[in-house]
Amino acid sequence: MKFFIDTANLNDIREAASLGILDGVTTNPSLMAKEGIKGEENILKHYVDICNIVNGPVSAEVISTEYSAIVAEGKKLAALHPNIVVKVPMIKDGIKAIRHFADEGIKTNCTLVFSAAQAILAAKAGATMVSPFIGRIDDSNWDGVQLIEQIVHIYNLYGFKTEVLAASIRNSMHIVRCAEAGADIVTCPLSSILGLFNHPLTDIGLEKFLADYRKLNG
Ligand code: E4P
Repeated sequence: MKFFIDTANLNDIREAASLGILDGVTTNPSLMAKEGIKGEENILKHYVDICNIVNGPVSAEVISTEYSAIVAEGKKLAALHPNIVVKVPMIKDGIKAIRHFADEGIKTNCTLVFSAAQAILAAKAGATMVSPFIGRIDDSNWDGVQLIEQIVHIYNLYGFKTEVLAASIRNSMHIVRCAEAGADIVTCPLSSILGLFNHPLTDIGLEKFLADYRKLNG
């Protein structure tokens, strides 16, 4: 399972990359706004800055919603760096654009996916990745991880090549459950990645090992 970080914060990306376990990055317009990145030139430069930190796929989301505008915007984003993946919303014009990008060899991430039906459309259109938002599904009192299981099952049945990217991760247990469910990728905030380290018995055990060493060695 690949680990992506879900942020536009360069320090968080550097910290996750320094662990040696980071495979890529996802961003969205809300995450870019959170970092105060505004204006087309600054936004495009920020994507390049991210690509220069992480040697892996970096999802850059289009803000257009009409087919030809999505295609034009996506081509501009894809031209920024070979690692850019064009993130396209799950709407009719988005699916048409994903098909166009697939035919042109441009990688895509179909975002805002909340059902297996939508995930089938994304795979049929040739999306490189599909992003079911599991945290937002949990927030509405359904089980987001069950959707990951369902999509993985369907994709396996038909040999769809689209990678299942579990998004909207809220905690470390989401990561573990997505791993059990067979997600190809999880994209997580830094806090959820760091949460994977935590176990009280590790802390207690290490403290004892070091105390025993110090007893004899000073
Ligand atoms: C990433 O691709 C998604 O845009 C992101 O995970 C959404 O997360 P949120 O539901 O926490 O906003």
